[in-house]
Amino acid sequence: MHNNMSHFSLKSLFGAVFLFFAFSFGLKAQDGAKIFKQNCAVCHSLTDQKLTGPGLAGVASRVPKPEDEWLTAWIKNNNKVIASGDAYAKALVAANGGVDAMSEFEFLSDDDLKALVAYIKAPPAPKADAAKTPVAGDASGEEEEKGGIDPLYLLLGAIVILAIVLSALRSVRHSLQNSYNRREGKAESEELTFGQEVKQWIGGHRRLVGVFVILIGFGGMKSCWDACYDLGVYYDWETQKGYHPEQPIKFSHKLHAGDNEIACQYCHNSVEKSRHAGIPSVNVCMNCHKGIQTGPQYGEKEIAKIYEASGFDPKTGNYTNPQNPIKWIKVHTLPDHVYFNHSQHVVVGKQECATCHGDVKKMTTVEQKNPLTMKWCIECHRKTEVAMEGNAYYDRMHKALKEKYKGQYDVKFTVDKIGGLECAKCHY
Ligand code: HEC
Ligand code: HEC
Ligand code: HEC
Ligand code: HEC
Ligand code: HEC
Ligand code: HEC
Repeated sequence: MHNNMSHFSLKSLFGAVFLFFAFSFGLKAQDGAKIFKQNCAVCHSLTDQKLTGPGLAGVASRVPKPEDEWLTAWIKNNNKVIASGDAYAKALVAANGGVDAMSEFEFLSDDDLKALVAYIKAPPAPKADAAKTPVAGDASGEEEEKGGIDPLYLLLGAIVILAIVLSALRSVRHSLQNSYNRREGKAESEELTFGQEVKQWIGGHRRLVGVFVILIGFGGMKSCWDACYDLGVYYDWETQKGYHPEQPIKFSHKLHAGDNEIACQYCHNSVEKSRHAGIPSVNVCMNCHKGIQTGPQYGEKEIAKIYEASGFDPKTGNYTNPQNPIKWIKVHTLPDHVYFNHSQHVVVGKQECATCHGDVKKMTTVEQKNPLTMKWCIECHRKTEVAMEGNAYYDRMHKALKEKYKGQYDVKFTVDKIGGLECAKCHY
């Protein structure tokens, strides 16, 4: 009889486990929708409607077989498919104006591609106005994405159902036990409290309980993670915003970059060539301070420290003294696991120093003006448009977009749409 019992609860447990898998798959389908919105919806509808690219309704049945492979290869790099001499691809381009206007999506992972292909093969039933909002990332789009049932509710539902099943089983078991006892002439057993019953049950099903707890743990973590990611709330409480240490020499950006209009790149000369802006070596200071030996505010005192560092003897004009490098205190720091590249932002992205560092030209001591958190990076990537004008890499895509939406939509091609929200782009 006891065995029968555990059979029963086993079933309900498997039911709960099944629910978990169901919601994991639910998430996958959602990922596909998201990727589509972010990367494809500017050019494709999921209906028959043609935008820049053909409408994707029924696309799986018209492309060469095996369709999953073809679609994956096409999305990843359609140039390659066309170059391989694929007859369907050639006809497709010819039918769409003769120029291959679709961008490549090499940055999508295999999992992304899988979810994406699954999604375009079987998208959820379109809402009435879905075709009218091809511009991804707008408010209405966000809402639509979250249309599914929150996995957290499924989880809570599963727990409630489990509790109900358990308590029902408990009373069934109690009355069965009693009728058994009566037949055997034993005394009726005392009814255990729910707590005792649960304890007993857990004791007998350690392994199952373990699996269940782990699943709940992962489910909960995943939901929290996704929620945090969407809100972008990571680590704002650890921000170093406002940090402005005293430096070993009273070097003033206001005096140099402001009043004397020395270009940032004169001193931070790797900012356009590498990921680091770089702090100038003392030799750079000496280009000017060999001659400029007194300053407006501190006289000879602070400039003397430059000589001390470089081994320069102002009396003889020779570098005869021992050198003693300046130990500048770093103001902005990202953790080691974050990859940030100055030249990508300043040259390719055309971002001003001041957007991230504030008006350094007015600072006597440099101050960190922005939080430098993940949220900060991501918020900018979500709202800043990629500078596509005059950038060969984006030119073709841009032309196609501009032509298509001339005067119709305010098309925003923001950094997140070229993969600026992918973990691996910013993390080692
Ligand atoms: C810049 C516009 C643009 C973007 C962005 C774009 N496509 Fe395309 N797509 C096209 C065009 C145009 C074609 C037609 C072939 C050609 O000219 O390259 C096409 C063709 C296709 C086809 C074949 C359609 C058919 O009828 O056989 C599929 C599938 C496809 N795209 C999927 C995607 C997916 C998935 C994404 C997002 C990852 C995407 N496209 C992003 C413009 C775009
Ligand atoms: C004459 C040389 C010189 C010029 C010109 C100059 N800087 Fe600097 N910069 C330095 C030195 C030296 C430091 C290190 C000491 C400090 O933090 O004040 C520094 C530090 C910085 C820092 C902080 C680095 C850290 O530790 O995180 C930023 C940001 C910065 N500069 C931005 C700029 C910008 C923007 C401009 C142009 C508006 C500029 N700098 C012009 C020499 C220069
Ligand atoms: C391109 C020329 C140039 C370079 C390079 C340069 N300076 Fe200067 N520096 C000046 C000028 C101009 C003044 C102001 C002189 C004046 O107004 O009398 C000055 C003044 C100063 C003063 C005096 C401040 C005061 O108020 O007394 C200090 C300290 C100083 N610089 C430090 C540095 C350091 C450190 C570096 C290297 C990181 C550096 N400078 C690089 C041109 C330069
Ligand atoms: C998109 C934001 C952004 C822009 C634009 C930007 N910076 Fe930075 N900068 C940062 C971040 C983030 C760090 C911290 C990097 C780290 O710790 O690895 C930093 C660090 C620095 C440093 C410290 C030394 C170093 O290389 O880490 C200097 C100096 C600096 N920036 C100067 C500049 C100058 C000059 C410009 C304009 C030509 C500029 N930055 C443009 C975000 C930016
Ligand atoms: C002021 C806005 C702004 C901020 C703040 C900013 N970025 Fe960016 N970021 C851009 C722009 C614009 C581009 C697009 C450059 C291009 O066209 O390749 C970009 C591109 C990137 C890329 C390349 C993305 C890709 O798909 O190739 C990485 C990686 C990146 N940023 C990392 C960071 C990190 C890390 C931070 C925070 C420490 C940060 N960014 C903060 C504007 C910003
Ligand atoms: C645009 C750049 C960017 C992207 C995209 C990004 N991160 Fe971050 N992440 C950062 C920065 C910058 C920090 C450091 C924040 C700080 O130190 O306050 C950070 C911090 C973290 C931390 C905290 C580590 C610590 O210091 O304790 C984790 C974990 C993390 N990111 C995970 C992720 C995951 C997972 C993804 C993808 C879903 C992701 N990040 C995408 C820029 C990014």
